[in-house]
Amino acid sequence: MKVVVGSNEKISELIAEEFIKQVNKKPNSVLGLATGTSPLGVYANLVKANKEGRVSFKDVATFNLDEYIGLEGTHNQSYRYFMNENLFNHIDIDKSRTHVLKGTGDYLAYAKQYDEEIKKFGGIDLQILGIGSDGHIAFNEPGTPFDSLTHVAELAESTIVDNSRLFNDISEVPTKAVTMGLKSIMNARKIVLIATGKNKAKAIYNLLRGPKTEEVPCSILQDHPDCTIYVDEDAYSLVK
Ligand code: F6R
Repeated sequence: MKVVVGSNEKISELIAEEFIKQVNKKPNSVLGLATGTSPLGVYANLVKANKEGRVSFKDVATFNLDEYIGLEGTHNQSYRYFMNENLFNHIDIDKSRTHVLKGTGDYLAYAKQYDEEIKKFGGIDLQILGIGSDGHIAFNEPGTPFDSLTHVAELAESTIVDNSRLFNDISEVPTKAVTMGLKSIMNARKIVLIATGKNKAKAIYNLLRGPKTEEVPCSILQDHPDCTIYVDEDAYSLVK
């Protein structure tokens, strides 16, 4: 794993440049996308680059990592809504080629064929990840098998607390999600992970210095052949 340390602004720019390079090299790239606070700067940079004509997303396909069970795609805390608001509505992407797991209706059937669907598109070329304070990636919480594919997951108590900042009340945070599994993520050809802030320091320490164990889901990335970890000084503070 490579590590890049810089301000949130700088690492967001660097990751956006990786996406731009990827799409300019292969216009029909398959991009793996994340939600949450961490990738917001990256998406803002991609919107800007698209508006400036430095990159076109018209032929890309995207697959998002996860979705809360119980929220319609129109709910303002659903991950489909997040992606539309923060990226898709502002770039020249074909929305029919954007995939976000469903959180309602036939969500189980959709989840079951998600990995196959990714394969049909040729596999993920570039995947962006955030990381939970407990070391989760996507919604793969501690104890998730390393060989997991897309599945239904229970959110850890710490994740519910972390994510409650975005809801009116903690009781509104869904307790379950559909998520790509750890194996689904490891299948991506290239991975970039972004983490900022002191509350990610322990997870980053465990990722970079800890043993590979299912108790720390992100530690599986130690085995990925092309994975770069982008952190700010706070997230990196326990490693130095
Ligand atoms: C979101 C996701 C999660 C987040 C993680 C960090 O699609 O997969 O694993 O990346 O919970 O969230 P933030 O960036 O909000 O701290």
